[in-house]
Amino acid sequence: MERELSLEIVRVTELAALASAPWTGLGDKNNADEAATEAMREMFDSVSMKGTVVIGEGEMDESPMLYIGEQVGTGQGPELDVAVDPLEGTELVAKGFNNAMSVIAVANKGNLLHAPDMYMEKLAVGPALAGKLSLIDPIDVTLRKASQLLSKPLHELTVTILDRTRHQRIIEQVRELGVRIKFLTAGDVAGAIAPAFPEAGVDMYIGSGGAPEGVLAAAALRCLGGELQGRLMPEDSLQEQRCLSMGLTDPRKLLTMEDMIGNGDVIFAATGVTPSDFLNGVRYLPNQRAETYSMVMRAQTKTIRFIHSIHDLAMKPYLQKQMQEQFTS
Ligand code: FBP
Repeated sequence: MERELSLEIVRVTELAALASAPWTGLGDKNNADEAATEAMREMFDSVSMKGTVVIGEGEMDESPMLYIGEQVGTGQGPELDVAVDPLEGTELVAKGFNNAMSVIAVANKGNLLHAPDMYMEKLAVGPALAGKLSLIDPIDVTLRKASQLLSKPLHELTVTILDRTRHQRIIEQVRELGVRIKFLTAGDVAGAIAPAFPEAGVDMYIGSGGAPEGVLAAAALRCLGGELQGRLMPEDSLQEQRCLSMGLTDPRKLLTMEDMIGNGDVIFAATGVTPSDFLNGVRYLPNQRAETYSMVMRAQTKTIRFIHSIHDLAMKPYLQKQMQEQFTS
């Protein structure tokens, strides 16, 4: 992949974030998502690649754009797998909560797992624990190992987990050990990436969340030197069938980084819509301007770029038109 592609990709997440941010706190997750999706689709037209969406807004019959199998980019340049979540954390934007981002990962064709829309059990860590733990181990074993490896007593460890009733048992087990828990209302891409940022103050992300989000977070963690292990959780025979039809012969097998994102280069870009541990959200400035905070990273070089952009919204006719259509109807 050409290195310039990173900068082209981040312009796409920027526009999607700017398009969904006006919906912050308005209680309308569908419109927030639609705005981000349309903007992302529009901006992809200028990216020099022959991309195929492998993780997107759903199947072709469920979603008019950024559906699985859709071709994106100019059609010139490398053949790439593209994983998108135009608005990761739709409910977060609707409620004005933290952790919503616009996210894209790209890799050479055939490298990204076509993760089905179901839950995935996850264990995500930063560089200090990468390659040293196993999702197969019971959680108490994992936490004791982490405590030893990090030379910290258990009560100085912090894990992140989605605040869901399905996690009740694991939460009890973590609490019994005195390990701190930082709960997420939603948005486990940001949650799974956070252990790779020391300033986030978390050692590990555990629990289940969306499988597509798992692949996106794995792409980010490859660039950051961390690790995500996953295991799909098909809940009925339909979901089992879905896994099989996607080529996953053993749906419950432990998925390594290699299974999810291959061995080669990966580019990951994210722009904050609302603030997270490592990115600010969109902020509005006087005179029709707005600032965005993004990060874009490439696995091959391990360069992590944080991009702070100031946008003159009057110079973005696409956004002007979209806002007019959405807020006057
Ligand atoms: P959306 O962006 O589709 O709203 O997903 C938000 C999210 O919190 C993901 O980050 C996470 O993987 C998944 O939903 C968890 O699902 P659930 O809310 O069912 O626990």
